[in-house]
Amino acid sequence: MRSTAKAVGTAPGKVILFGEHAVVYGRPAIAVPVFEVQARAEVSLGEPGQGVILEARDLDLRYPLSSASADDALATIVWKTLARLEIPPQPDILISVQSTIPIARGLGSGAAVSTAIVRALARYFGKHLTSRAISDLVYEAEKLYHGTPSGVDNTVIAFGKPVYFVRGRTLEIFWVKTPFLLAIADTGIVSETKDVVADVRRRYEENLGRYEFLFDEIAEIAYQGRGAIEMGDLPRLGELMNRNHAVLQAIGVSCPELDRLAQAALEGGALGAKLSGAGRGGNLIALVTPETRGRVDLFLRLAGAKRIIITEVS
Ligand code: PMV
Repeated sequence: MRSTAKAVGTAPGKVILFGEHAVVYGRPAIAVPVFEVQARAEVSLGEPGQGVILEARDLDLRYPLSSASADDALATIVWKTLARLEIPPQPDILISVQSTIPIARGLGSGAAVSTAIVRALARYFGKHLTSRAISDLVYEAEKLYHGTPSGVDNTVIAFGKPVYFVRGRTLEIFWVKTPFLLAIADTGIVSETKDVVADVRRRYEENLGRYEFLFDEIAEIAYQGRGAIEMGDLPRLGELMNRNHAVLQAIGVSCPELDRLAQAALEGGALGAKLSGAGRGGNLIALVTPETRGRVDLFLRLAGAKRIIITEVS
């Protein structure tokens, strides 16, 4: 077993541009990486005989993996990665995790931390894993965070590129003709994806016809959104974001704070705005230009945004 003294793995956050919720029901989604925030994992040699120690200083956590419970997502990703890398159980290593990605805001913090761990472990043991293999491993941990994840988070984060994604079928990395800017505005409201997805499932089961129709609407928007990105048609892209937000309102996953931010972004001059991720909190995304970004930022803050990240999609 070849190992280096220390190895680092990183991974970006992400936002969903089109298709959240509908993607759980087999419709396409578009997601993009957000490199302004990141998860970082460092693997180094631990104390002899102590096995794997996991440390997350931000969360004030330090524990041996042998004591982790079966639903511990960090432990799961470590065990599965060690097995995939064919490393004998319990190597004496310290895995230290840090992240600047806000938790439970639709920015993919869980998938990013897992991806950083997989990368750091592979590097530490001198092994290579493809983006696909990393994505598949991270999906296993995502199941613990999210219940029935579509797989979009692990895919976009492991590949680190804009993706057009259909659950269990397509993964296409597509061309962004004209790079564009997204303002990502945090409502400050923690939203648990698992709970919102479960609630949408209940509503769907009570009213199949209506929800199938709404998901089809989103599928069409995502498809056209991809076209708008490939053609560099930003006004069209913005319009499609507004339409997607309206359908998400109809599905019942927006909230007054998100709607207020969407309205403020448009009043500030954004070309479009929509909630991103599970909804009922988390983030709003707005399509801005170098000319409008300052004004939109101000309007979003006045409307209550707790933090704004501007990212370029290219
Ligand atoms: O809130 P997030 O970014 O974890 O996104 C959830 C996206 C959903 O479509 C609602 C769920 C999923 O698994 O894709």
